[in-house]
Amino acid sequence: MKVVELFINFTKKSLMEFSLFQLANIFLVVFLAILLFRFLWMTFLNTFNQPAVWKEARKEKQVSKRLLKSERFYPDKVRFYTWWIQVERLKTEKIEGDFAELGVYKGNSARILHQMDPSRKFHLLDTFEGFAERDLEEEEGKGKAATYTSRDFADTSLQKVIRKIGGNNNIRVHQGYFPDSVTGIKEERFALVNIDADLYNPTKAGLEFFYPRMNPGGVIFIHDYNKKWPGVVKAVDDFMNGIFEVPHLIPDRDGTVLVIKRQKKSLKPL
Ligand SMILES: C[S@@+](CC[C@H](N)C(=O)[O-])C[C@H]1O[C@@H](n2cnc3c(N)ncnc32)[C@H](O)[C@@H]1O
Repeated sequence: MKVVELFINFTKKSLMEFSLFQLANIFLVVFLAILLFRFLWMTFLNTFNQPAVWKEARKEKQVSKRLLKSERFYPDKVRFYTWWIQVERLKTEKIEGDFAELGVYKGNSARILHQMDPSRKFHLLDTFEGFAERDLEEEEGKGKAATYTSRDFADTSLQKVIRKIGGNNNIRVHQGYFPDSVTGIKEERFALVNIDADLYNPTKAGLEFFYPRMNPGGVIFIHDYNKKWPGVVKAVDDFMNGIFEVPHLIPDRDGTVLVIKRQKKSLKPL
């Protein structure tokens, strides 16, 4: 009620009747209200730092409702848009091949990647029971891995993941310890692979398995390239030393390395 009274008084009085202190207060309140309104507007209309190509695709109604919803709630927008731009590039450049994710956990990233291109066969690889003891032992007690046990990331289940992804019949699950779990996909070729396994062993094994099976133009993402996960950094560095491609670090929250498999360019004769 007090606020209403103040407002009525304010509209009755002319500005000259307020002291300088009151005017300064009014200005501050209005300024803060504008800031709050702007923040809420941008959050709920979700217009924070959207890339122009994404805005354009939305306007042209090329983005599914499910993907729009995922965008709204996914906390790492840079990671989200990087995936999307790469998936769109694969479509435009007609790069064939399956999608795969090594390190699925509850299916958050897998769901989004599947929504971005549901027409691709999508291989999900995880123990769905958390880290393997032998992988943890080899982390040499460094970084975040030193505080992890085989119980971490074990609070998931295949059924829950399948339900969460809510996908079509392009989803293929390969449950078990990686790389032992690859028996069914040795002959496949890939267009996009997301490696998010946190530790040295699976990350290195993932790069060794998928890199030679990427179609030219295909993209590999490796998540968590940062000091908290020294095993990931070492696995990426060890592997990248031996390939032609230049890895790129994406400025998303945890640092994702992106590698695009070299496309053969033929030199035209002069
Ligand atoms: C950080 S979580 C993945 C998070 C998920 N990509 C997301 O964004 O929601 C890491 C996952 O890697 C899996 N993982 C780690 N080492 C593995 C191995 N050797 N074989 C299979 N899965 C493994 C763990 O079980 C865990 O679910």
